[in-house]
Amino acid sequence: MTQQSPMTADREDWVEIASASDLAGARPVIPVDLDGQRMVLFRDEEGRLGLIGRHCPHRGADLCFGRREDNGLRCPFHGWHFDHTGQCTEQPAEPLDSTMYQTIRLPSFTVVEHAGRIHAYVGSGTAPAFPASADT
Ligand code: FES
Repeated sequence: MTQQSPMTADREDWVEIASASDLAGARPVIPVDLDGQRMVLFRDEEGRLGLIGRHCPHRGADLCFGRREDNGLRCPFHGWHFDHTGQCTEQPAEPLDSTMYQTIRLPSFTVVEHAGRIHAYVGSGTAPAFPASADT
């Protein structure tokens, strides 16, 4: 597994974190360190990108080794499932009527794919539109 290093992360800015080719192949899941946080970048089955916290909030398992399924990543340890926004969507060992999963969310960054590169927004609040000047 290759560790990805973003370019210098200025606050309140879009930061290039990977090339689209880094997610080519059968398993589009890679580790990314961004703004001091260990994250995992992946592409779900519908093509959406997710940049979510790398360590499962249950027991800390590394989600880079998670199973990519059901439009998200499933923790390799006990099977908690997270979508591309970092929202937990399933806790297999909980009772069927449990809604605890709805309260569990991993940290995440907004990501955009543009001209073969993947950028994450580092800043507070809602990410602004990706700059048109990035076309050049
Ligand atoms: S460590 Fe991830 S589900 Fe238990």
